[in-house]
Amino acid sequence: MWTFSCPIIVYGDNSLEYILQLQGKKAFIVTDKNIVKLGLAKLVTDQLDEANIEWEIFDEIEPEPSLNTIKKGGVAIGKYQPDWVIGLGGGSCMDAAKAIIILLVQPDLEPDCLVASDTYNFRDKARLMAIPTTSGTGSEATWAIVLTDTENQRKIGLGTSECTPDIAILDPVMVIGMPPKITADSGMDVVCQAIEGYVSTWGSSITAGPGLIAIKQAFEFLPKAYKNGEDIDARKEMQNAAILAGLSFGNSMAGLGHSTGHALGGIYHIPHGRTVGLFLPYTMEYLMNGSEETTAKYAEIARFCGIASGDDKKSAQALVAKIRELSKELDQPLSVKDCGIEKDKYDASIPDLVDRALNEVMTMTVTRIPDVEDLEKIFSCAYEGKRIDF
Ligand SMILES: [Fe+2]
Repeated sequence: MWTFSCPIIVYGDNSLEYILQLQGKKAFIVTDKNIVKLGLAKLVTDQLDEANIEWEIFDEIEPEPSLNTIKKGGVAIGKYQPDWVIGLGGGSCMDAAKAIIILLVQPDLEPDCLVASDTYNFRDKARLMAIPTTSGTGSEATWAIVLTDTENQRKIGLGTSECTPDIAILDPVMVIGMPPKITADSGMDVVCQAIEGYVSTWGSSITAGPGLIAIKQAFEFLPKAYKNGEDIDARKEMQNAAILAGLSFGNSMAGLGHSTGHALGGIYHIPHGRTVGLFLPYTMEYLMNGSEETTAKYAEIARFCGIASGDDKKSAQALVAKIRELSKELDQPLSVKDCGIEKDKYDASIPDLVDRALNEVMTMTVTRIPDVEDLEKIFSCAYEGKRIDF
């Protein structure tokens, strides 16, 4: 049995006005200090004021939110007892909101003990809204939560299907001022999530459609949004692409680009989208070399995007080339070396990188599951930018 989870998606100009339709008394906003400083939180609280809904802001979410921060949020939400929780910001803030809302009903739960198969019934107390200020993680459409165990420098993937937000609001006013670097990093996450969701062994014809459109739109509109942040159409299309990619991989699974990228990001503290985008072409080559099924799916994507040439293999190669071209256009690193990591230090960390990648479920949801030796080779090739030919 499979399920497809999806929030009510509110999108386009003036989407924030949807808040005026909410039924409720108290909203707890989970965000970060920068979002407050930029005035984006005020755009939300102005709507809440007009809707006669009281609000409180918890703005202590840091990038890669720690378990301790979630516990602090749990204490604050316990005192406030809202009937709405709003995750406002990038993936970190939206993920944190999903974890904190569970502490509303289970205040003593250690956040890393959240179990996917358990039922928390937090909707008995409050509903969940997500308002993204980046176009990338798709967290506004997924149940996934990524937290950081700072003690062991590990990213932890958590969540239950309950954590899919009830409502996702995509108002272009929230992303128009996003800096180019964040536009590029988060946009590469869209591409990686959509491609990996499309070829995931947990994917299906139900999840395929949103992924395909997300890839096509990102190829067209991500460079435009990067080069001209004021391009409102490009911003809107990237908001749509991000949530479509979220629906696709969130209802299937990401793949090797994510498990290897997570490993690099966990050790070297590089933004998520940048690392997964970096590893995407290498891991695609690896899958193509061992799986005709995945090669055929890459070719389908290439045909849909109008970049196919010849048979499946050539078309899949054209897709990999397109991703490398896009990365160049966005000034993203094409190799680990480009990230400024020293070779000796990197080589010494390969066993740790391999171990982390092997412990990710996303390593197991692809058509060619790598062993230790293959992962070592993938990590080594990615340092110098060598193609994966095995
Ligand atoms: Fe991602």
